Amino acid sequence: MSKHTIEMTINGRRHTADVESRVSLSDFLREDAGYTGVHIGCDHGVCGACTVMVNGEAVRGCLMLAVQADGARVTTVEGLAAPDGTLHPVQAALRDEHGLQCGFCTPGIVMTMAALSAREKRPTEEQLLNALSGHLCRCTGYQGIRRAARKLASPEPAESTGGDSV
Ligand code: FES
Ligand code: FES
Repeated sequence: MSKHTIEMTINGRRHTADVESRVSLSDFLREDAGYTGVHIGCDHGVCGACTVMVNGEAVRGCLMLAVQADGARVTTVEGLAAPDGTLHPVQAALRDEHGLQCGFCTPGIVMTMAALSAREKRPTEEQLLNALSGHLCRCTGYQGIRRAARKLASPEPAESTGGDSV
């Protein structure tokens, strides 16, 4: 299998590697770059657990090849909080509203909501829920996730921190 040299910026750090053409972005981020916050559930685009940001857009890492992200700016859940550890508003809302149980689906949900929040600044609850409609939570903890979305969409959202979000 031929290899390709790729370079991308992951959570603000340059990462260069030789990868086989067939390697997915999610496998690359976990196995090569060490960002194990990228969770792989179905591995074929159904559950949303592997969602990361690529150039600011929410992308399912299992549906993208690592070589397709050559030159891109990638953000995983590890790059979302501020350098001092202050949570991103999406993370804070999920924590405050108990929007996670085992946490397996959580990184993907966080990245989808963070990408939308970065694009829309103040997304509506409907926009957030639409964006989340493609995410599966095997713990079925959807009510807490919905409350977090409602909180983000409220006139006084959780405090903003910055971090490496888009
Ligand atoms: S692991 Fe990518 S969508 Fe399920
Ligand atoms: S919190 Fe367990 S899969 Fe969603």
